[in-house]
Amino acid sequence: MGQVGRRGVVLGGTALGAVGALGLVAPAEAWTWQPAGSIAGAGTGMDPRYLWDDECDALVARLFERGEVELVNELLADWTHNDEALPAGLPADLAAFLERNRQLPSWIDQAKLTQAFDFYERRGTYLGVLYGLGSGMMSCVIPREARAVYYSAGGADMKDRIAKTAKLGYDIGNRRAFGPGGQMVVTCLKTRLTHSAVRYLLPRSSHWKSGAEESLPISQADIMVTWHSLATFSRNKLVAWKIRMPAADSAAFLHLWQITAHFLGVKDEYIPASWDEANVQSRQVLDPILRPTPEGIKLADILLNLAAEYDKGLTKPVLNGFTRYTLGDQIADWLQIKRSPMDRMIKNSWPAFIRFKEGLVNLPLVPNLYWVLDEFLRLGVLFFLNEGRRIDITLPTGNNPN
Ligand code: HEM
Repeated sequence: MGQVGRRGVVLGGTALGAVGALGLVAPAEAWTWQPAGSIAGAGTGMDPRYLWDDECDALVARLFERGEVELVNELLADWTHNDEALPAGLPADLAAFLERNRQLPSWIDQAKLTQAFDFYERRGTYLGVLYGLGSGMMSCVIPREARAVYYSAGGADMKDRIAKTAKLGYDIGNRRAFGPGGQMVVTCLKTRLTHSAVRYLLPRSSHWKSGAEESLPISQADIMVTWHSLATFSRNKLVAWKIRMPAADSAAFLHLWQITAHFLGVKDEYIPASWDEANVQSRQVLDPILRPTPEGIKLADILLNLAAEYDKGLTKPVLNGFTRYTLGDQIADWLQIKRSPMDRMIKNSWPAFIRFKEGLVNLPLVPNLYWVLDEFLRLGVLFFLNEGRRIDITLPTGNNPN
């Protein structure tokens, strides 16, 4: 299918929610998003597809060359909270990097972060579904991400990888996410180091075909693509699902993700200052690139089968159905997700469930649906909290051996 057709189908299938109504222009080839629309308000305007994370990449390359990665992983395992001192014994250049980059940006707005926690408390269930089955499954049709995940070490143990990624999804919803007692600054910095390790390791993988399009994985643009698949997508879906979102909630949710992008090493000139600007950027970088790949199809299959470990496949139709409902038929078909009668049930019941939760209707839900949703949330907890084990984000030391 051609670009415009594919894009039309994806947006028409409400993959990107509210954006769909406006997104009828052909995707731009060149980077034209203006830094005037960013948090920084100005910038070089350089194409972020050709920018990575020079400082962190050079540092991590040195750690590999000096044979210090395992030591660093061991030492950093006990560094978990934003206000904790760095562990003793870290290589001096790493310690200096972490001290410098753990500082909060001048534009942080604590009042917005407090509001964001309140928003999470009220909307956490929806966000869990959207992050897990919306954004998580969407990553399988983001070709560069699917390939990077599939061929990196985490591709060989997707359960572990999900738990680690979910740690970020969990930490971001903490009352003090970026404050003292929270963990987001540390989680983001460890992720930033992990991304640099992937940039070091993946080009050495025999599977990794370097080409004109992508010599090095996880560019600044790639990170913003994933950012939109999480933040912009979820926000647009909440709007499309008609969930009440006062301006203060909307601004707070954006701010939480702006700070997250900053700590992941995205330059402020690429971080959108408003949802309008985010939608403009998302239409440019995310919508046109969505497509299936062999790696993404395999990842989707692995992901949707993980739950079977707990329930012998009982809830698989629910996971499939939610993915289809959240991302639309086009993406579900690309990922070869099987249809089942559950699809119709979810399609018919979820809006009613939302109206019920929002206090707009008093009708009792059918018992079946209660079961489906309860089971679904139970699974989420098992998955995302990794059966209560402590989750530690570590720098990979190799690629997927398979
Ligand atoms: C690792 C989050 C963007 C590829 C991680 C981890 C987190 C994370 C929390 C640590 C978990 C782990 O080690 O498995 C994010 C967020 C992003 C983002 C929040 C953007 C907002 C990207 C992009 C790519 C990517 C754009 C690829 C194009 C990877 C890979 C790993 C990783 C390959 C390591 C997997 C492994 O070998 O364990 N990311 N990521 N990430 N990320 Fe990202």
